[in-house]
Amino acid sequence: MLSTRSINLVTRPLSAVNAIRLSSSSSKIQASAMVYSNYGKPSEVLSIHKHYLPELKPEDVHIRFLAAPINPADCNQVEGAYPIKPPFTNALGSHDPVAVGGNEGVAEIIAAGEQVKGFKVGDKVIMANAGKGTWRTHAALPATDVQLLPGFNQDVSLVHAATLTVNPSTAYRMLKDFTLLQQGDFIIQNGANSAVGQSVIQLANAWGLKTINVVRDRPNLDELRQYLTSLGATHIITEEELSKRETRSKLKEWLNGRKLRLALNCVGGKNATELGRYLDHEGKHVTYGAMAKQPMQVPAAPLIFKNISFHGFWVSRWTDTHSAQERESMLADLIDLIKQKKLKEPIWEKVSWKVNAPEEETLKTFREAVDKGITGYGKGKQILVFDE
Ligand SMILES: NC(=O)c1ccc[n+]([C@@H]2O[C@H](COP(=O)([O-])OP(=O)(O)OC[C@H]3O[C@@H](n4cnc5c(N)ncnc54)[C@H](OP(=O)(O)O)[C@@H]3O)[C@@H](O)[C@H]2O)c1
Repeated sequence: MLSTRSINLVTRPLSAVNAIRLSSSSSKIQASAMVYSNYGKPSEVLSIHKHYLPELKPEDVHIRFLAAPINPADCNQVEGAYPIKPPFTNALGSHDPVAVGGNEGVAEIIAAGEQVKGFKVGDKVIMANAGKGTWRTHAALPATDVQLLPGFNQDVSLVHAATLTVNPSTAYRMLKDFTLLQQGDFIIQNGANSAVGQSVIQLANAWGLKTINVVRDRPNLDELRQYLTSLGATHIITEEELSKRETRSKLKEWLNGRKLRLALNCVGGKNATELGRYLDHEGKHVTYGAMAKQPMQVPAAPLIFKNISFHGFWVSRWTDTHSAQERESMLADLIDLIKQKKLKEPIWEKVSWKVNAPEEETLKTFREAVDKGITGYGKGKQILVFDE
């Protein structure tokens, strides 16, 4: 057991949040976490808290994180604008009560309590639920908070494992759960270059569906077109083009008699309304993101004459309302597609978190990454990679 006096990990405290208060029941594992004690702009309210993991409890595991993404919802959570609000606590020995950022990631078991079944040291695990805090080097958690990834092997990268439960899972559910799609059917989506959009394109392609993909115009549009086409996108169109009247005949030509029965909305606002106009009778319009932060208007004519319907989807709610077996079966399907090279990693940028780097350096890198993560026209998903 370590004495509190022998431990002084903070060389230069950044704020009161970083002050260490250690209990006598700490392990020898040094950890650091990206924490917040108030809601606000992530790059302003996040700071690093260093601490020792508590001693291993019989029902707990100690894990070392390997990779974790910075998703838009994680940032909304730090802003206080997300329904899952991890409680602020002093459990990590901080002076002020804090919560740890991040919701998904992949980690390695480094110790398992004597009552833990089904895990061994060295196993790679993902989070069983959101809200447990993945922007940290290590964590001590009840074993029920983590799960093995079915079929995980060397064909599945850490980035794949770290990002599977949110974006590809969302794409999977939205394509399967709202309407019965037949081979050759079309779906339309906006935000098609988002990580979810990239998964939608690839899953649709793997399942014989065709996609109409709406993206925002940009100087390197051709490059983006090429990339999405390489993933299997059938057609790509800009938001501006979609709102033009002449696009109606273009889409008719593309559909060639097929019905458009599913629209996936990542963006909101005017563009979301436009998607609804193209839906056929009984079409489903599913909103899962609100990147434009604009409300959408519901067009009356297709509601009345085509009986289209509007829905929302939230993967966390799906996870809470479905069995562990159903989630496992979906993850196994996704892993199979990865192994068949039908589902690639999202476009991503490495955010290096060196476990022994000075905390100012880690914090600066992290703040830049989190800002990039919420700025439009980004270069890809920001993913923390923990290097020893
Ligand atoms: N409901 C759920 O269960 C669920 C699950 C996963 C994700 N989501 C949500 O889905 C959305 C995408 O997540 P992600 O991780 O895939 O995101 P991401 O990879 O970070 O991509 C963000 C996407 O949003 C677009 N975008 C950003 N600002 C925009 C604006 N003002 N107008 C139009 N488009 C804009 C970006 O396009 P540009 O390249 O043009 O900037 C890009 O396509 C987020 O809102 C996220 O919270 C929801």
